[in-house]
Amino acid sequence: MAFSGAEKEGKEVKIYENLDDLKIDLAEYVAELSEAAVKERGTFSVALSGGSLIGLMGRELRHPPYIETLDWALWHIFWADERVVPKNHPDSNYKLAKDNLLPKVLVLPSQMHSINDSLSAKEASEGYEFLIRQLVKTRLVGVSETSDCPKFDLILLGMGSDGHVASLFPNHSVLDNTEDWVTYVTDSPKPPPERITFTMPVINAAANVVVVAIGSSKADAVHLAIDDVGHECPSLPAKMVKPTNGKLTWFLDKLAASKLDSCAHKSE
Ligand code: 6PG
Repeated sequence: MAFSGAEKEGKEVKIYENLDDLKIDLAEYVAELSEAAVKERGTFSVALSGGSLIGLMGRELRHPPYIETLDWALWHIFWADERVVPKNHPDSNYKLAKDNLLPKVLVLPSQMHSINDSLSAKEASEGYEFLIRQLVKTRLVGVSETSDCPKFDLILLGMGSDGHVASLFPNHSVLDNTEDWVTYVTDSPKPPPERITFTMPVINAAANVVVVAIGSSKADAVHLAIDDVGHECPSLPAKMVKPTNGKLTWFLDKLAASKLDSCAHKSE
């Protein structure tokens, strides 16, 4: 690892020389969170998104030692955002995780809580929120101490070069939705256009949020999201990720971290 900022106010920034080191440390981090949640609650609720981080994690977690040591049977998997396409479509985030991250024999379909892909984006988002509400009632998913939001043990996010996280895009009205747990877009700037997404209050109610950003195309957004740049881009989605009672951890490679203001960063 090139550098890891000290934790301050529930935020930590980890920067890696190369992807191999990043994926090894990320897998270890997820394994530790899984172990802690299972010990405390008897289950691990994790929400995934799409993008490169799924394959990156899968290259570690589907192999020894994790294939044997993780409590896969106690994992419950959700999607922080999903493209409204059939589950066997190449654009599906469910398919991405099923094919590249979750070991088939160890994670049963009943542990994968995904959208109903036969519905419209609006109906799928309403149905998904209803499903999560049922699972909060049974405490399979925890509940926030400060709001009525679900408290996922971990929400894993990538970040686009425009600073979007999940399917919360900059300058999009979806960012203003603080009422719902799950909402939808039909005009996503990144294809495909129809998606469902957790709202920002749900992301910020999680016990742990991890944001992974890799490559030089992310450097500007990483700088705006992490550095203290005053009121510049206050509504950049990645900058709005601030878990209320949870911990935020950034995993960056050195290219994504290349525009960070090192002084401000090191004081994190
Ligand atoms: C999606 C993804 C998306 C992704 C980022 C980062 O459904 O489009 O959830 O938000 O996580 O765009 O992707 P990369 O890491 O592949 O750049």
